[in-house]
Amino acid sequence: MGLTILVIGSGGREHVIAQKLIQSPKVRTVYCAKGNAGMKNDGITLVDIAENDHPALIKFAQENGVDWTFVGPEIPLLNGIIDDFTDAGLLAFGPVKAAAEIEGSKDFAKDIMNKYQVPTAEHQTFSDFAKAQAYVVKKGAPIVIKADGLAAGKGVVVAQTDEEAIKALKEMLEKNKFGASGAKVVVEEFLFGEEFSLLAFVRGQEVYPMVIAQDHKRVYENDLGPNTGGMGAYSPVPQISDEIVKEAIETIVKPTAKGMVEEGRAFTGVLYAGLIVTESGPKVIEFNARFGDPETQVVLQRLESDFAQIIDDLLKGKEPQIKWKQNGYSLGVVVAAEGYPNFYRRGCQLPDFSDLETGQIYYAGVKEENAQFVSNGGRIYLVESSGKTLKEAQKAVYDVLKAVDTKGTFYRKDIGFKGIK
Ligand code: AMP
Ligand code: GLY
Repeated sequence: MGLTILVIGSGGREHVIAQKLIQSPKVRTVYCAKGNAGMKNDGITLVDIAENDHPALIKFAQENGVDWTFVGPEIPLLNGIIDDFTDAGLLAFGPVKAAAEIEGSKDFAKDIMNKYQVPTAEHQTFSDFAKAQAYVVKKGAPIVIKADGLAAGKGVVVAQTDEEAIKALKEMLEKNKFGASGAKVVVEEFLFGEEFSLLAFVRGQEVYPMVIAQDHKRVYENDLGPNTGGMGAYSPVPQISDEIVKEAIETIVKPTAKGMVEEGRAFTGVLYAGLIVTESGPKVIEFNARFGDPETQVVLQRLESDFAQIIDDLLKGKEPQIKWKQNGYSLGVVVAAEGYPNFYRRGCQLPDFSDLETGQIYYAGVKEENAQFVSNGGRIYLVESSGKTLKEAQKAVYDVLKAVDTKGTFYRKDIGFKGIK
């Protein structure tokens, strides 16, 4: 008899996670709470329970013979969903609340990095506007201002001038732009260099790195405009050498996992390191306690082993066997609502991809209305394709997008540009 799995979350990341799980011959049923209408195409069963309703999710898992639960987004992790499932005697994959703090508080993450000598941008934390302003003036722009807590990828301002930095400080510390998340801010040195995302399966001190990816955080081509949750990604990243990746695993991921164990906050789950390759090697700009979105949509394409088996082994104390495809590229482009990451409308009719010949669609902000998909969020869907070269993968994705009507939505036309010479 196959496994019954519950996935928590509703974005493109959860779509690919649920899809890879259901493709496993070891899996019989994948439920997703709440999921999104687009997932039904892949045979995923939607469950109408909110991701913060832990008692209802626990009850559902118990009553429906769920073998284990995979938690996608950070908010339930930081609400202690793993702790609650564990207390109820249920298996669930992800870090406990105390470990998820590595994403929940940038100040805490910086303390861990300082204590365990993990290379990161020089920084200081403030809750007082005048002191923060004085620090910005002393250090000078470019400089980076980050809300301490969660802000859906939007709480980071890379300021090119002192004025811009001070305006951001004022908005967060005095005007409460991000509420409690911005009551403390981290002011950080601007790092020059290529950025990449290194994700790893972590179980206490054990670290199983994934293949790397590069996201595109800015909303417009050539990395202009405000930060978003991510507008597209690709994997592998040819301009980042294997040596740099190895260095990042040894100097960043392993010491962080070990540090968390020593702190009594052992991390089990996916640890995501956002890194910049500086002249003195890779340095951390952020940690997340979960898979990245849209990185997961391209990284999991390159997994050769059975995803469900890996998670099952990690949950059951066994040694996972993890193999990655060594050849080929995967690239994904996010289609977002016009106006995102600021004000945008919902209800935009989406193209019909039912006879798509190449590539895959991962849905996020969608719902069904009169048997048609309409937009229901900022990031709506992602088109993914694989190819022998990065250019081939990129062309395949843009060919799909050019052939459909994308009115009311937009996408970056240059995803992958840094990897294509
Ligand atoms: P984060 O949400 O921390 O990943 O920040 C969003 C984006 O801001 C990153 O993807 C980087 O492009 C940029 N960023 C963050 N911190 C720094 C830094 N210290 N130096 C340069 N760029 C940064
Ligand atoms: N793609 C960035 C993130 O998931 O945080």
